[in-house]
Amino acid sequence: MTSPRRAEGAPAPGRPAWVEVDLDAIAHNVRTARQALRPGAQLMAVVKADAYGHGAVPVARAALRAGAAWLGVAVLSEALELRAAGLRAPILILGWTPPELAREAVRHDVALTVFRAEEARELARLARETGRPARVHLKVDTGMGRLGVPPDERGLAAAEALAREPLVLWEGTFTHFACADEEDPAPTRRQIERFSAFLARLEAAGLRPGLRHAANTAGLFRFPDAHFDLVRLGIGLYGYAPSPFVTTPAPLQPALAWKARLAQVKAVAAGEAISYGATYVTSAPEWIGTVPVGYADGYRRAFSNVGRVLVGGVERPVRGRVCMDQFMIGLGPAPAAAAAPAAVAAPPALAAPAAPGDEVVLLGAQGEARLTANDLAQWAGTIAYEILTSLDERLPRVYTGAALEEE
Ligand SMILES: Cc1ncc(COP(=O)(O)O)c(C=O)c1O
Repeated sequence: MTSPRRAEGAPAPGRPAWVEVDLDAIAHNVRTARQALRPGAQLMAVVKADAYGHGAVPVARAALRAGAAWLGVAVLSEALELRAAGLRAPILILGWTPPELAREAVRHDVALTVFRAEEARELARLARETGRPARVHLKVDTGMGRLGVPPDERGLAAAEALAREPLVLWEGTFTHFACADEEDPAPTRRQIERFSAFLARLEAAGLRPGLRHAANTAGLFRFPDAHFDLVRLGIGLYGYAPSPFVTTPAPLQPALAWKARLAQVKAVAAGEAISYGATYVTSAPEWIGTVPVGYADGYRRAFSNVGRVLVGGVERPVRGRVCMDQFMIGLGPAPAAAAAPAAVAAPPALAAPAAPGDEVVLLGAQGEARLTANDLAQWAGTIAYEILTSLDERLPRVYTGAALEEE
């Protein structure tokens, strides 16, 4: 890995805790996704939620450079951030944009997801006022139960309303899978069938659906018949398979590492409590390190007494409760003499296994050891998506990789 470099505009590491993002890993994951892609189909890099915590602008740039054609976001502010950074690629807002915000999307050539027939007329009015066409993708609910027109005559009516408005540019039609990463492929097969039947119905009515898209990461790697014209790559872009049932043609590379430097290392005598609530009490003298990261940074309180970090290439346990801005780790047995209250500085023979300022890896690799977002997710009973998107923005992001040189 190249030495950490700051991307233009990224904050300088202003604290001894940070997130490193390897843009070469992002590029590798895009290329791996493209290998699996049906010829002719395009790739959308889903960079919502600040690119799943990785930083939307540098990730979007790296993904586009590696061959992604589209960018997907969840809300208008995310699209505007990309436009403000000078990114001209097509952007689709995958979520609901209320009418009072749609004007800004139209002004910035950002495509909107629509799922109500009435939206066609509202958007045509906005397009007239703005002097630009309103780009839209019709969302069809084929089994997710979240957003979308039903794939029946109600959906057809919405499609007809879009087609009637010359200032509304009907660019695409899409659906979203609920279970593509689950073991049983049947629900996804059903969704593909419903979507295909709806597309056929549009065609029979003389309507052109534009770019047809359905697949997320799991859909890309497991259901080649769901690639249609465009595939929306989210978690795979960041180097994770969405579940153990999803296999990839080449290993994906996790792009993110989370690191900090030890604030304090001390020998604690047996019978001493660590952190709020005294949920951990040393049973023997123990070296305890303090890590300057807490649940306000996204290091979950659920990791209390169950999480692990890497120090010197060795896994070390979280001791006691995770606090808002700090948590403690066990660094191994300490000699009783070092833990005695009189010990001001341990003699060399009793030296601690780590020193203040040493690197702690909360997520990522150190030597041969590695902790993944899936490990952290397991400790908290959640999924890697939630771990990555919970990384607070007060953690500086540092970008590495040759992809950065090309900026
Ligand atoms: C509509 C839509 N498409 C694509 C994605 C990307 O999904 P994944 O991260 O599983 O690839 C998401 C993410 O939640 C989404 O909401």
